[in-house]
Amino acid sequence: MKIIPKNRQAGSAGAPMAAKLVKSAGELKKVPVRLKLRFEDAAEYVPENLMDKFVIRGGNPLLGNIRVSGAKNAALPAMAAAILTEEPLILENIPDVRDIQTERNLLVSMGAEVELGYGRAHHRTTISCRDLANPEAAYELVKTMRASTLVLGPLVARMGRARVSLPGGCAIGARPIDLHIKGLEQLGATIRQEHGYIEASAERLRGGHIVFDKITVTGTEDLMMAAALADGETVMENCAREPEVVDLAVLLNKMGAKIEGAGTSTIRIKGVSRLGGARHRIIPDRIEAGTFVIAAALTGGDLSINNCEPRHLSALLEKLQECGVTVTTTRDSVRVKNGHRLKAADLSTEEYPGFPTDMQAQYMALATQAEGTSIITENIFENRFMHAQELLRMGANIKVEGSRAIVRGHTPLSGAAVQCSDLRASASLVIAALVAEGETILDRVYHIDRGYERIEEKLRGANGQIRRIGEILPRRAAQVPVGVA
Ligand code: EPZ
Repeated sequence: MKIIPKNRQAGSAGAPMAAKLVKSAGELKKVPVRLKLRFEDAAEYVPENLMDKFVIRGGNPLLGNIRVSGAKNAALPAMAAAILTEEPLILENIPDVRDIQTERNLLVSMGAEVELGYGRAHHRTTISCRDLANPEAAYELVKTMRASTLVLGPLVARMGRARVSLPGGCAIGARPIDLHIKGLEQLGATIRQEHGYIEASAERLRGGHIVFDKITVTGTEDLMMAAALADGETVMENCAREPEVVDLAVLLNKMGAKIEGAGTSTIRIKGVSRLGGARHRIIPDRIEAGTFVIAAALTGGDLSINNCEPRHLSALLEKLQECGVTVTTTRDSVRVKNGHRLKAADLSTEEYPGFPTDMQAQYMALATQAEGTSIITENIFENRFMHAQELLRMGANIKVEGSRAIVRGHTPLSGAAVQCSDLRASASLVIAALVAEGETILDRVYHIDRGYERIEEKLRGANGQIRRIGEILPRRAAQVPVGVA
């Protein structure tokens, strides 16, 4: 019998999984086994396929069905919430993406036990933070994923101390965490900054009144978790209203917290002395769903995007209707059937329920194919037009002026060698390549693996011509004439 670490196979951006080989009916078969991550695993885990590329041939309309995974930006704070209790937390619908792997490594490096489901339980994770010997988020991990700072509030609240690396610069903007720190101080924590680390401590946090100077998603989540174990009531104003914030509050209340108002700009938290374990299903990923909605509209396809939450996509769907796209929805799916020429429409990114900044890059790809000029204004991050330079390489007509991009369409795109710079920029290049004439080679796709679960397989399943170089093609696919040498 032999154990083959699943992550040695190309293409799987997910966690170090394992399978054992058993002989049945004369044929060797892999049977999934549950894998408990140990402390030393976290340290030496080096994600592979860092050098992978996508080869995409444009021209095919997307057809059929695509299933949306769980939301990365809901799963990350939910996993951090496990720190708040010594009892196990069972999380379902966890996406199999690299950022989730980084979060697991972070928790294990603190002393948590992380159990990964496999096979039918593939998207389930059980986390136990009974003995957190090392309440520290090391620079090596935080630099690869800024959302690691979400452990700051829970660690101070539960352990009374935390040492968390400052995240450093980011491709899309400065992204400081000053509002997280200010909020924790308002809950009574003592904070020092030394050698690139935040050192925070508090005997026990106490309830307070926090007014965010700026709407911050992870800031709201971090302080909501901290206040859940504080002594007394906390009122937070000018909060983020994203569905991921609401999903976290639902989980925390299942753990015994007393939180009201999540989803509005004022959240009230009555602190409790202890939180328990819970079982929780993470909401679908509205940004992944939105990415496929735009890809379908752009390729002139007929695609049903399933297992999503259409009401979380209303700003996007309204904008696409303005562009002349036909969209129909059910309780948990969006169908895009688009044969019309796209019309240009201006766009401004805003906090939820406005148009999400995480969909801006994908919308820019669409705007390159729309009749007329679209002015795209990015209001959330100061440097989120990196994809424009790569789209220009494919023949688009885009002029960036500070926080505005002027996109003149309709300009036919042609395949080219392009490079990913961040998660959502990569998604816009994949979409553009699906309508470009000829072949596009997309480099550094590890950016896209951070937040999209096997996007190439999902798109290929919907008639897209895309494959990962470095990927071992399953026998069936090898026979499909993708036309890419
Ligand atoms: C969350 O990031 C998401 N990440 C981001 O998604 C998303 O783009 C962003 O919210 C906005 O919707 C996760 O949920 C893990 P913010 P977050 O704090 O919380 C400034 C993706 O592609 N600010 O809401 O880090 C900040 O610089 C990622 O999946 C401060 O000034 O974003 C920005 O301009 C990318 N001080 C604005 O607020 C602070 O302390 C909003 O940022 C915090 C934020």
